[in-house]
Amino acid sequence: MPGLLLDTLRGSNTEERPIWLMRQAGRYLPEYRELRAEKGGFLALVYDTDAAAEITMQPIRRFGFDGAILFSDILIVPFAMGQDLTFVAGEGPRLSPRLVDSALSALEAVPERLAPIYDTVRKVRAQLDPTKTMLGFAGSPWTVATYMVAGEGSRDQAETRALAYRDPEGFQAIVEGITEVTVDYLSGQIEAGAEAIQLFDSWSGTLSPSQFERWVIAPNARIVKELRARHPETPIIGFPKGAGEKLPAYARESGVDAVGVDETIDPVWAARELPAGMPVQGNFDPLLVLAGGDELESEARRVLDAFADRPHVFNLGHGIGQHTPIAHVERLLSTVRAWRRA
Ligand code: CP3
Repeated sequence: MPGLLLDTLRGSNTEERPIWLMRQAGRYLPEYRELRAEKGGFLALVYDTDAAAEITMQPIRRFGFDGAILFSDILIVPFAMGQDLTFVAGEGPRLSPRLVDSALSALEAVPERLAPIYDTVRKVRAQLDPTKTMLGFAGSPWTVATYMVAGEGSRDQAETRALAYRDPEGFQAIVEGITEVTVDYLSGQIEAGAEAIQLFDSWSGTLSPSQFERWVIAPNARIVKELRARHPETPIIGFPKGAGEKLPAYARESGVDAVGVDETIDPVWAARELPAGMPVQGNFDPLLVLAGGDELESEARRVLDAFADRPHVFNLGHGIGQHTPIAHVERLLSTVRAWRRA
């Protein structure tokens, strides 16, 4: 009983559309904020695997989404590669030592930091209805590297892009190191029960075309190839956020099964330019879920109609915002559930 989401990711153009939302487990849910206050902090939640499994299930219980995305973070990989990781309230993640002024070889790997994540996957899969899909994920090497190099998030990834130009071999070694850990990490998630995988390349939008080829397409292709050799049945969604006009090349060359589309892209354009029959995911503007109103419904139908000729997973163009009213999420869900492919 694979269910609507897995069927769609495997290429069937279902009459009804599956839906899940990036960041569906998180701060816009009162039940999440309550558990977070109790456990005191994000990393504590991730490493309390009962709590992490519970948080993964919260949006499924409340909304009945078709997919449950593992509650964890893309920065668990650098943490396992030996960087210190903290989440400063209101400021976001911090990693140290930063690779802009420290060598990758100076880090001492702590692979035990990955094992609890597999326990969370097992615990979720045991609770999840068989028609719902358990989604594992990791950051793509470029995006993870931007945090490892700068030690924090940055608006334009300038330090990392400059390093990649200044020392391409050194940067290649960082990307390869991340790639190797990521393949093992995703295999571990699949072996624990993840049925599909999403690769988040959140910061791919600032790269020039040749750099995009080298640091986004090539490492994603390597992950897909190695993962597929080990787990041929598991669909992989690639999400190169901000890729813009480079999205069709990514879709053709990376080898991913399905491609995530962000909200800056016209869905009519994406439907025309992406390989025929390839499943897409997206691309509703998360700010319209925040804002609400009648436009929420008409725009949701516009996205659904635009992708009607190919398999489509309804999702946002990026993560749902923390101030999003629950009632707006419910309205979005009923709009998507009422829609049928003509
Ligand atoms: O519901 C889900 O999507 C599952 C869990 C998930 C989280 N982060 C939980 C989280 C996933 C898939 C991610 C991915 C992630 N993490 C990305 C890629 C997607 C994207 O948003 O672009 C990135 C770049 C990160 C790195 C990260 N983690 C940042 C920049 C931050 C701080 C900013 C913020 O939103 O607070 C985090 C923290 C984080 N990861 C939170 C959650 C629920 C907030 C933690 C909290 O304070 O409660």
